[in-house]
Amino acid sequence: KLESTLRPKMLADYIGQSKVKENLKVYIEAAKQRGEPLDHVLLFGPPGLGKTTLAQIIANEMGVNIKITSGPVIEKPGEMAAILNNLQENDVLFVDEIHRLNRQVEELLYPAMEDFVIDIVIGKGAAAKSIRLELPKFTLIGATTRAGMLTPPLRDRFGVVNRLDFYSVEELKQIVLRSAEVLGVDIDDEGAKELARRSRGTPRLANRLLKRVRDFAQVKYDGKITGEVARFALDLLEVDKLGLDNIDREILYTMIEKFKGRPVGIEAIAATIGEDVSTIEEVYEPYLVQNGLILRTPRGRMVSDLAYKHLGLEKLAE
Ligand code: ADE
Repeated sequence: KLESTLRPKMLADYIGQSKVKENLKVYIEAAKQRGEPLDHVLLFGPPGLGKTTLAQIIANEMGVNIKITSGPVIEKPGEMAAILNNLQENDVLFVDEIHRLNRQVEELLYPAMEDFVIDIVIGKGAAAKSIRLELPKFTLIGATTRAGMLTPPLRDRFGVVNRLDFYSVEELKQIVLRSAEVLGVDIDDEGAKELARRSRGTPRLANRLLKRVRDFAQVKYDGKITGEVARFALDLLEVDKLGLDNIDREILYTMIEKFKGRPVGIEAIAATIGEDVSTIEEVYEPYLVQNGLILRTPRGRMVSDLAYKHLGLEKLAE
């Protein structure tokens, strides 16, 4: 599949997140030397930064299989028990959106993570008894947008906790050049840089925009992605100079115009633009905060002077 060829297979091909990479390299090497599974790993950070890709790489580097699932998909403890029981020794189980596991499933994980056992209750009422099932040793890799969404007992059972950060323009440019090569797209340095600048620090978005810009390059130009072609296509896609899309801008306009630039709560912003609070908090806000467009103050969210400047608006006098 084409999509999967854009994902690097080994750590050496994974661009960026250098601290996470350096540490993981050591832990993987050490676990392999001991013939043990890697300790459980929690990856957190905004969507699209490569949490699933990194989990697959960890499995490849360990030389084991990976089973991929997600929090909301596993409804009953028995389903999780079956998945765990079917793993092979030292395999990786990747659970995306791990904060969305229900309580019973999460509690089954505690002894599974700690001692590689689960307790199964057989029968009902007075005849009920609990039997202990030994599991193959495994590595749980959990992914979530914010570590704070996990319950403390679950979070504490991960031996390795890593936050993924937004990528720099230079890192994204390398990713775009690599992806263009994989896709067989002709692109120059300036074209790659323009895409990198406007991909809000996010490889998934960079790869998606690369494909759309390629379409414009092919149909409206001679097929090569130059700076000019990238600017033309990204303007049409309504991705601005900082990589903001319509919803990012709507958030900023709402804060400036509806709320007069005063401190405002996330619920009020969400209600005004008709988005979920959690989507704004997990998908949109982190990049706006990281880039200093939104300031989080004890009194609420505020737009910065930079946001006014970026939108070409005058700040109202107090
Ligand atoms: N594609 C998506 N994420 C990547 C990364 N971090 N490095 C290289 N290619 C990628």
